[in-house]
Amino acid sequence: MTQPSSTNTSPANRGTVLVTGGAGFIGCAISPALVASFDRVVALDNLHPQIHSGQTRPAELDPGVELIVADITDAKTWDDVLPAVAPDVVIHLAAETGTGQSLEESTRHAMVNVVGTTQLLDGLNRSGKLPRRIVLTSSRAVYGEGAWKSDVDGHVFYPGQRSNEILSRSQWDFPDAHPVAMSAAAVAPAPVSVYGSTKLAQENILESWSKSYGVEAAVLRLQNVYGPGQSLINPYTGIMSLFCRMAKAGKSIPLYEDGEVRRDFVLIDDVAAAVVAAAVAEKAHDGALDIGSGEFQTIRTAAEIISRYYGAPEPHVTGQFRQGDVRHAWADVEPAKAQLPWEPRYDLEAGISRLAEWIDGRLPAEAAL
Ligand SMILES: NC(=O)c1ccc[n+]([C@@H]2O[C@H](COP(=O)([O-])OP(=O)(O)OC[C@H]3O[C@@H](n4cnc5c(N)ncnc54)[C@H](O)[C@@H]3O)[C@@H](O)[C@H]2O)c1
Repeated sequence: MTQPSSTNTSPANRGTVLVTGGAGFIGCAISPALVASFDRVVALDNLHPQIHSGQTRPAELDPGVELIVADITDAKTWDDVLPAVAPDVVIHLAAETGTGQSLEESTRHAMVNVVGTTQLLDGLNRSGKLPRRIVLTSSRAVYGEGAWKSDVDGHVFYPGQRSNEILSRSQWDFPDAHPVAMSAAAVAPAPVSVYGSTKLAQENILESWSKSYGVEAAVLRLQNVYGPGQSLINPYTGIMSLFCRMAKAGKSIPLYEDGEVRRDFVLIDDVAAAVVAAAVAEKAHDGALDIGSGEFQTIRTAAEIISRYYGAPEPHVTGQFRQGDVRHAWADVEPAKAQLPWEPRYDLEAGISRLAEWIDGRLPAEAAL
């Protein structure tokens, strides 16, 4: 695997990189490698209170990064920032990321994810200097339930959204079929959450704008990212940190549906390596690439590993469900391995230990939940 470092940086990668949402989980994780790879690194972030409790510069953000506190949805932000920064590469991370929350706060999600993106692009036009490349972190949420294969005749179909009525009957899986890995080359997007819809809109807007101006668009569809640096105060994202906090407090972790929901949990280090690889590659990759561990685990397995780590009681199935959650998701990472170059390096057990140790260093047991 090619780890991002100054040694794999060609002269073409020097210059200025602007990272929207650069003070967040992924922004902080990529910051040391960006500082090593670019002459100037600027993070633009509004230090959203749902993620940043103190609304201060995060300790995890590399000291070599200049932080501008501003809102991406405000046209004035871009008119103030872009002429002075004139980025060669933009990494667009800033987003509202609550899948469940997006159903009740759809305007907020559309405003930041969709309008925030168009404001950035309009601002670049007004600034008179376009970047060479824009890297966008999209999401596996664009696939919704994804594609499934019939056990009867092998045909691939799109089952669509699981309705409230189906879920209320505890019918979790689509009968007589099994899911297919999420792959941009083979599976068409079909989001089932407002969040997923806004991420797909971001992709489409960026693709059409970039093609018109000859700017490279490098889209990465991330699976479930977890690990040290994850927000411990955001109640709407980050199931792994929530599970850790429950187990640390001595509680049994509740499992939604039947506990057999599959996810591709990918450690932040592996995601950071992919984002930096996409930013510094000589030439941008083609099409969207799927970034994950390449393997699925059930929610039950993840919860059991965490419970064992903390000596907490066994997880228990609640049968609850949440609209907008999909049944199974994991990535086909072969195209990303071939194109970036990059490969995932951490398995779930190693990743959970890293996350739990990091949480233990921050939270006393009595404050875990
Ligand atoms: N973490 C994951 O599991 C995951 C999975 C798939 C995709 N993604 C995508 O990766 C990107 C980064 O995710 P993350 O996990 O680092 O999230 P995060 O919430 O930790 O970081 C997002 C950052 O954006 C900032 N932000 C929010 N609204 C803003 C606004 N209006 N103006 C300026 N800044 C704003 C926040 O303050 C935060 O620092 C997002 O685009 C997200 O959709 C993340």
